[in-house]
Amino acid sequence: MDATKVPQITLNTGDKVPCVGLGTFGSDRFDADEVSNAVAGAIRAGYRMIDCAACYGNEKEIGKVIADALKEGVCERKDMYIMTKVWNDMHRHCEESARQSIADLRCEYIDLFFIHWPFPNYHAPHCDVTSRNPDSKPFSVEEFMDTYRQCEALVKKGIIRHIGISNMTVPKLEQVIDKFEIKPVACEIELHPCMQQQELFDYLVAHDIQPVGYMPMGSPMRPERDMEPDDIADLQLPEMKKIAEAHGVHPAIIALKWAIQRGQIPIPFSIHNYVANLECTVTEPLTDEEMEIIAGLEKNNRLVKGQVFLWPGAKDWHDLWDEDGTIADCPDAI
Ligand SMILES: NC(=O)c1ccc[n+]([C@@H]2O[C@H](COP(=O)([O-])OP(=O)(O)OC[C@H]3O[C@@H](n4cnc5c(N)ncnc54)[C@H](OP(=O)(O)O)[C@@H]3O)[C@@H](O)[C@H]2O)c1
Repeated sequence: MDATKVPQITLNTGDKVPCVGLGTFGSDRFDADEVSNAVAGAIRAGYRMIDCAACYGNEKEIGKVIADALKEGVCERKDMYIMTKVWNDMHRHCEESARQSIADLRCEYIDLFFIHWPFPNYHAPHCDVTSRNPDSKPFSVEEFMDTYRQCEALVKKGIIRHIGISNMTVPKLEQVIDKFEIKPVACEIELHPCMQQQELFDYLVAHDIQPVGYMPMGSPMRPERDMEPDDIADLQLPEMKKIAEAHGVHPAIIALKWAIQRGQIPIPFSIHNYVANLECTVTEPLTDEEMEIIAGLEKNNRLVKGQVFLWPGAKDWHDLWDEDGTIADCPDAI
């Protein structure tokens, strides 16, 4: 598909970005070469926004295919919107993390650099959900802002163009929203039909921060360790199947259309279906009635619970998400 035909979204900087990006987390199931092959195909298919992260362990391989595509003349660097994230063990070393990602991704600069999680609680890749790091700490305004200030310095140095935040909540945002010197352009959070986070979504929109939705299909292939018996499979819901039938497409396409029409930027991961996921941005939209039916599927079905980030003394994973409006054990919230 011609990349210029993909509908665009305007960020609070005035920059225009595609309304859909490609996720690159292999979910422990797809190795770096399989993921980077998909990225190579996706760029040629017209994707320009790629959601990477240092902790996905595949930036070198993705960097190679991006460099090949640029060399081949598929597009220019300025046409790409490359996003990556600082992992939790690098919060005190954001510049080092950004420079490493730039070297691995061979991208000269990062378009959007996310703080992956709002606390520096490290856990090793692939670790079990029961594993805990005794050094983990609750969210602290001061620590978070220290990390954020480093990102602001990176913008000033031209190492990154924009700052993003991720896995935030309204109570955490309330603590920091007035402290930004350079506003974040986007916030990456879990968003799919059964996890709509309406209050947070509205808060972001009201503050002109673009919601980016991860796991837009409800991540049917997420790692086994992240699957729980009560989790709901969005794409299996009869309402999703019925709307998909009416449009003659897979329910995944309906989840994407809903996301785009609602106003978030979905970043689906796909090895096999990335062409369809891009093309659906210009085919028949969902009707108002279909949008309403999907709005009614909200079930607060959080799939990324984040257990491994819990600190000693935390009750359970609900403590990470400030569900009662307060930030659990925060030492310096006002
Ligand atoms: N900020 C964060 O903390 C965070 C957390 C989690 C994820 N993320 C980002 O979000 C991205 C997406 O999340 P995710 O990969 O977990 O889940 P997802 O995008 O919801 O689901 C991906 C799965 O859906 C399937 N799929 C995609 N399009 C399809 C279609 N048209 N028809 C049928 N099946 C389709 C894919 O299968 P095929 O490969 O067979 O197409 C793949 O197995 C990640 O890759 C990552 O970049 C960020």
